[in-house]
Amino acid sequence: MDKLVIEGGHTLEGEIYVSGAKNSAVAILPATLLTEETCIIKNLPSIKDVYYINNILLQLGAEVEESGCKFIINSLGVDTYEVDFELSKKLRASYYFVGALLGRFKKARVPFPGGCDIGIRPIDQHIKGFEALGARIKIEHGIIWAEADELIGTSIFLDVVSVGATINIMLAACLAKGTTVIENAAKEPYIVDTANFLNAMGANIKGAGTDEIKIKGVERLGGCEHCIIPDQMEAGTFMIAAAASRGNVLVKNVIPTHLDSISAKMREMGIKVIENGDSLQVVSNGRPRSANIKTMPYPGFPTDLQQPMSVLLSIAEGTAIVTESIYDGRFKHVDELRRMGAKINVEGRVAIIEGIKKLSGAPVCATDLRAGAAMVIAGLTAEGETVINNLTHIDRGYEKLEEKLLQIGAKLKRIP
Ligand code: EPU
Repeated sequence: MDKLVIEGGHTLEGEIYVSGAKNSAVAILPATLLTEETCIIKNLPSIKDVYYINNILLQLGAEVEESGCKFIINSLGVDTYEVDFELSKKLRASYYFVGALLGRFKKARVPFPGGCDIGIRPIDQHIKGFEALGARIKIEHGIIWAEADELIGTSIFLDVVSVGATINIMLAACLAKGTTVIENAAKEPYIVDTANFLNAMGANIKGAGTDEIKIKGVERLGGCEHCIIPDQMEAGTFMIAAAASRGNVLVKNVIPTHLDSISAKMREMGIKVIENGDSLQVVSNGRPRSANIKTMPYPGFPTDLQQPMSVLLSIAEGTAIVTESIYDGRFKHVDELRRMGAKINVEGRVAIIEGIKKLSGAPVCATDLRAGAAMVIAGLTAEGETVINNLTHIDRGYEKLEEKLLQIGAKLKRIP
């Protein structure tokens, strides 16, 4: 397994470009199954999760022509609704094949998804949605079986705000009879992006980005062209890395409003965040002030940036209370940060971080995707050398991370 060796203590300066959003890409690619016509998807990030989803599309019989960050996909030849076990367990987002295949064939057989080990991740709200639309769901031997004579629109109130359930129900409901209303829907930018894609295919979805989404079923969907939005988590990771290194970095290709909760928190900590069109400049000269964070569904502070932000709080002045309200197991990075000298106590879903002046380099492990990003930031700011083991998780979600960081002055290299 690859390792990343980082020589810490270098200030990050210059411009860094953000790729397309992972969590949009992994929903939009399965959505192309809803038409027999050709879809052109642009600005796809070159990451392992996209590669895994692409493999599932190919296994199902879709034709995919790749040209850099553009995929041209035609699903006319798809003649099975059964996803391969090995492919499905590689990532979380394979659950979107249930909604997409159910929409297209009224049948789906999808092995349980994999993904980061960040706590309990049930899919009961997805199932509740499919059942409400008229599907029969059975879970046997680790496989989700879904079948419907027909899908009929209805009202679904989600018990928890779920990105995955909101998108999955949208996928299944586009071609259903009548109108589906999702209440207490998630509002993340990926949901708006996926709804925009489906509408470009001819769907009739209104309200994406609010907590009530109305989907009027249509007879058929057609091909279209769509450009994936920038990845707010990759952008946020770069913003935090810039601040942790006390640098001056222009993070390019962002939608600044998607990052409002991060920018506001960083400003509260005394870091300058300057908005300029589709760029955000982060300038930090001294040690930041500490601040409390509580993770919330969008537009609140995202759970995906809690781990990277914990690194910045570890070297801030003062004590921070970090409350993780989305996942019960998203503090695995804390043990790794402690190896680097961080003073953090965890009590259930709360971490208390007492800021120290500097972290010190150490051998650490990337226990999940964002924990990996956190370790990279920790290594960049620490004194001495940090070796990060197990880069598989980082490669699932960050495109060319080393190359991008090298361009802004980081000193790091991957050792195969
Ligand atoms: N939940 C349920 N039942 C469900 C679905 C979710 O109880 O049926 C709970 C979860 O356990 C969690 C909360 O609801 O406590 C939110 O989960 P959500 O369904 O929103 O998460 P997800 O759709 O599985 C996506 C992202 C995650 C991101 C979360 C929260 C994808 C592929 N994944 O997961 O991204 O953390 O939303 O914003 O879109 C990452 O990129 O590192 C990552 C983990």
